[in-house]
Amino acid sequence: MTLLTVEDLRVAYPSRDGPAQEVVRGVSFTLGRERMGIVGESGSGKSQTGRAILGLTAPGGAVSARRLEFSGIDLLNCPPAQRRALRGGRIAMVLQDPKFSLDPVMTIGAQIEETLQAHSPMSRRERRDRTLDALAQVGIDDPARVARLYPHEVSGGMGQRAMIAMMLVAGPELLIADEPTSALDVTVQLQVLGILDKLVAERGMGLVLISHDLRLVSSFCDRVLVMYAGRVVEALPAARLHEAEHPYTRGLLDCLPRLNAPRHPLPVLDRQAAWAA
Ligand SMILES: Nc1ncnc2c1ncn2[C@@H]1O[C@H](COP(=O)(O)OP(=O)(O)O)[C@@H](O)[C@H]1O
Ligand SMILES: [Mg+2]
Repeated sequence: MTLLTVEDLRVAYPSRDGPAQEVVRGVSFTLGRERMGIVGESGSGKSQTGRAILGLTAPGGAVSARRLEFSGIDLLNCPPAQRRALRGGRIAMVLQDPKFSLDPVMTIGAQIEETLQAHSPMSRRERRDRTLDALAQVGIDDPARVARLYPHEVSGGMGQRAMIAMMLVAGPELLIADEPTSALDVTVQLQVLGILDKLVAERGMGLVLISHDLRLVSSFCDRVLVMYAGRVVEALPAARLHEAEHPYTRGLLDCLPRLNAPRHPLPVLDRQAAWAA
């Protein structure tokens, strides 16, 4: 079953001199209850694609699409209140920088409790238990202490885990995770990916995992989109990534150090203007 349909998505920002600059240039894909990865170098439009789906494009940015549909809802033309209600509820996003996505004047525990309350009213006691449980699930050893802290009092990695815990309690049907593990050490990274995996398998959640890390995405996802300069240049099942044809994707693959064939020095990524055309 299709959860999300994206057809010819475009995001443009006005430039001071000259015409608006398109940073997402005609992205199309559909997503079911599966794990799809988006990879690409920094600035290729991955985050802007995710934000446009959520309706979190920065002021001044213009979003258009032939179709942008979640579970039968036309996201670009539904009432703003309906779109807001979807966000953080049926559709969630773990943002690349948690410092700007957590409320600075509320403790982490209070924020998670508020999310819980918004989705299913329950007793204070139960709310608190579920909050501590969610923090423990993302690998936080002392959830009671962390729940009492404000976002500026925790490290980037801890903030990212808090965001993921907040997302967990809402139980979304679609999760867009933008570099969700890049600030975490390897052990916690695997732990968090394990949680996401469980949500896909047990709750039938759809997952878009955005990352610059081709290895991570190809080992974790069912399908991979490769973005370059605002476009999807290649879409492949993860298991067939080695058959990639686009020179940019091939370049990415060649940069992965192989265990059996060490390459020194690592090759430099070749980029050609024609790929962006
Ligand atoms: N608010 C904004 N105004 C203008 N340009 C922006 C804005 N946000 C992002 N961009 C530009 O959009 C392009 C794509 O950015 P982004 O989607 O964040 O890349 P990625 O996540 O793939 O690293 C970049 O060139 C970036 O500079
Ligand atoms: Mg990004």
